[in-house]
Amino acid sequence: MEEGTNRVALVTGANKGIGREIARQLGKLGMTVLVGARDEGRGEEAARELGGEGIDARFVRLDVTDQETVDAAARSIDGEFGRLDVLVNNAGIPAGGGWATTPLRATEYTADLVRAVYEVNVLGAVAVTHAMIPLLRRSPSARVVNMSSELGSLAALSDPGAVEELDPSLQIAGGLGLLAYNSSKAALDAITLMYAGELGGEGVLVNAASPGYTATDLNGHTGPLTVEEAATVPVKAATLPDDGPTGRFLSRYGEAPW
Ligand SMILES: NC(=O)c1ccc[n+]([C@@H]2O[C@H](COP(=O)([O-])OP(=O)(O)OC[C@H]3O[C@@H](n4cnc5c(N)ncnc54)[C@H](OP(=O)(O)O)[C@@H]3O)[C@@H](O)[C@H]2O)c1
Repeated sequence: MEEGTNRVALVTGANKGIGREIARQLGKLGMTVLVGARDEGRGEEAARELGGEGIDARFVRLDVTDQETVDAAARSIDGEFGRLDVLVNNAGIPAGGGWATTPLRATEYTADLVRAVYEVNVLGAVAVTHAMIPLLRRSPSARVVNMSSELGSLAALSDPGAVEELDPSLQIAGGLGLLAYNSSKAALDAITLMYAGELGGEGVLVNAASPGYTATDLNGHTGPLTVEEAATVPVKAATLPDDGPTGRFLSRYGEAPW
């Protein structure tokens, strides 16, 4: 795979946090980055900021829960580039009402709270991927990165002691009662495997990537990692060589257990 030049990458939820940093790092590699954001003002501002660093960054309005914006984004990428080389499904939310220092217990979650999280973290990723598949298939070496989390690891949730030495993030999976968030990432992991299974033969590598516990708005800036550190994992997954892995759960510590 040719490194960087002329490759086109779409990052969802790229107006802030880890998504913006992924866009920055991919842009620094020479890719044209499409800054997906649901809010025009925030998206334009992020694209302008990246442009100021010499990156070819362009705002694309994209609310992953709004099929019309998803379809419009696919049409505009098709018209402008005719293909998509990298898709990073990064947009994500923590819980129905946002991050809380005292999260709900599992038994306190209503279906509505869970549904709100799945709309973005699960269905949003499916909507965007489904819309972009024809464009990804036209790339000579497409990469899809689904932003997952060790908090969704069934291995960690079922037996934290067995896996915690693999990755410090796994230690808190069962400890935080984030039923909606954790299960949304487990669903995204299964979806990653299904896409990887179908698309691997076509050269489209699809992986889940965990950035690690990172200080962002998503968690009230409680994580120890910086966005610069966090973005390295998804960026690596977005720039894998043609003989790179597919259907894996990549983390800072190598591979995380599903
Ligand atoms: N931070 C961590 O420790 C950590 C750990 C593991 C995995 N992750 C994952 O990494 C990804 C990025 O998280 P982050 O920590 O960078 O969070 P963040 O700073 O809160 O950023 C989340 C991004 O998603 C966007 N978004 C939310 N709903 C959206 C929608 N309906 N359509 C389009 N964009 C939407 C937000 O846009 P607005 O500004 O418009 O809300 C924002 O740009 C998430 O998938 C998260 O689950 C994070």
